Amino acid sequence: MSEAQNIQWFPGHMAKTRREISASLALVDAAVEIADARIPISSRNPELEDILAGKPHMILLNKSDMADAGVTATWIAHFERAGLRAFAVDCRSGKGLGRWKAEVHALLADRLEQYRAKGMVGKPLRVMVVGIPNVGKSSFINRMCGGARAKVEDRPGVTRGKQWFRIDNTLELLDTPGVLWPKFEDAAVGEHLAFTGAVTDRVIDTELLAVRLLEVLSAHYMERLTARYGVQPDAPYELLCAIARRRGMVVRGGEADTERAANMLLSEYRDGKLGGITLERP
Ligand code: G4P
Repeated sequence: MSEAQNIQWFPGHMAKTRREISASLALVDAAVEIADARIPISSRNPELEDILAGKPHMILLNKSDMADAGVTATWIAHFERAGLRAFAVDCRSGKGLGRWKAEVHALLADRLEQYRAKGMVGKPLRVMVVGIPNVGKSSFINRMCGGARAKVEDRPGVTRGKQWFRIDNTLELLDTPGVLWPKFEDAAVGEHLAFTGAVTDRVIDTELLAVRLLEVLSAHYMERLTARYGVQPDAPYELLCAIARRRGMVVRGGEADTERAANMLLSEYRDGKLGGITLERP
């Protein structure tokens, strides 16, 4: 079970992470933020930019295999306009990661030049991997470091338990120090994280969650709902009832079994049965 499931939110958590990340910033040259391409707003910690305090930074829109490619391109343009290098990746298959190393070298060209000028040739670049739980940080690290996942020794003066990983002689990764929480105090963020399965359904009522998902889906992806469930545009709750009936999910008396339909819809959405879908737009 990941940290994202069973969350007990309280602000002290974020203060601790802020301190832990800040304390480690001096050890790295850059940060790579991993976000979920399906929910690029809700899967980011709004304080991160501030915490990174000007450290060179790029963003990977992960799980792009499950997102809407057209909308992902819009997001990339949006981040690039804001001065943040952005890439669509799939850390499960490795798609999009082939040029990542070269991009880090490009991002840190000035730093490499400084090292060269000081005769520090061969000093590896160090990059902190940051992102909320379940976004794909371990998958990214595993992909970049290969099966071996060579763990670099803890460095002197560094809190014990810090996770360093060596990609090769030129590049090392530091896993997020602490847990970077999403912005749970925002109800819409909690909902969007629940749609994607990043937090457990137990946090929110399943039927309510399915109805809210249908609200988003019917606004942007009605044709997919029609194609998969044979339903026509309607209000979200009516859509859920129609989906239940189309799937033969009825209880005694012929009433739609909306709870069963809700569970099915959420799991089919999460399994990608409705195709690549992005729930948030710039
Ligand atoms: P974390 O370290 O940030 O907490 O995330 P982690 O890498 O553990 O990834 C969380 C889940 O997301 C894993 O699924 C992982 O396989 C999946 N995942 C990561 N990157 C991608 C991606 O680009 N595309 C897709 N489709 N999935 C991705 P899991 O169900 O927890 O485990 P498993 O299915 O790998 O066994």
